[in-house]
Amino acid sequence: MSRTVYVNGAFVPEEEARVSVFDRGFLFADAIYEVTAVVDGKICEWEGHIARLERSLREIGMGMPMSAEELLEVHRELVKHNDLEEGAIYLQVSRGAIDRDFVMPEGLEQTVVLFTQAKKLTGEKSGLRVISVPDIRWGRRDIKTVQLLAASMVKTEAKKQGKDDAWMVEEGFVTEGSSNNTYIVTKEGKIITRNLSNSILPGITRKSVLRLADELKLEIEERPFTVEEAKEAVEAFMTAATSFVTPVIEIDGVKLGDGTPGPVSRRLSEVYIEESRKASC
Ligand code: PDD
Repeated sequence: MSRTVYVNGAFVPEEEARVSVFDRGFLFADAIYEVTAVVDGKICEWEGHIARLERSLREIGMGMPMSAEELLEVHRELVKHNDLEEGAIYLQVSRGAIDRDFVMPEGLEQTVVLFTQAKKLTGEKSGLRVISVPDIRWGRRDIKTVQLLAASMVKTEAKKQGKDDAWMVEEGFVTEGSSNNTYIVTKEGKIITRNLSNSILPGITRKSVLRLADELKLEIEERPFTVEEAKEAVEAFMTAATSFVTPVIEIDGVKLGDGTPGPVSRRLSEVYIEESRKASC
């Protein structure tokens, strides 16, 4: 069945949705996106996603295309149109369409596109196998732009090697996964995850998971970690709006712990699912 998508003020069947070939999102990746989870037909982590959208837009010299309240309404309408129980809503805001020129134009009408993707987010997750690869992305990974070629290339490479995902490495330290934040758990039970900076995306799931871990009295250290440290960890996991908390059981062919999802990852996965049911709107 065809989905209903949102394009510039209209809800239309996906086959009828159109964006200009001159759209700067298409030609220059001059666009920002957000991916927001939907559970029980409700929007998860709205405050976090809308705040990050506003910040990303500001960082590349754009404003919000409409108010936060209006955008929430569009998200809710889209959920209704598509009977979405569980999955994600993709939102993209580009600077708009104009003849190709490297100079960023001012005052263009922004292109706003939203669509849904059904996906099971709750329920137990099997552990993933990851490879480490060089991080070849640009220096402002804290901005959620649509320039996802490097992420797409490394994930494809992981799949080619029969694995699930790639962890990107810069100067010996893991930055993040292709589309997720990464964590390891030491023998002593300490969770280590890279601190926020321009090197990684400030994950909305990350923020909540660290708060929940703190509430569970788990020890957390926010600092860069190496691939070698990761291979010696007893557990690892990653977080994202499209996969919540997902255990990692192997890095570069090295099994972590007993090679099955560990207790810290499983507990955090459970509490995050509970939390997202409670905190959705
Ligand atoms: N990606 N790091 C990167 C590079 C990401 O692309 C993402 C999310 C995250 C996790 O952020 P959050 O918890 O806010 O989803 C970290 C989305 C899901 C995507 O591109 O599909």
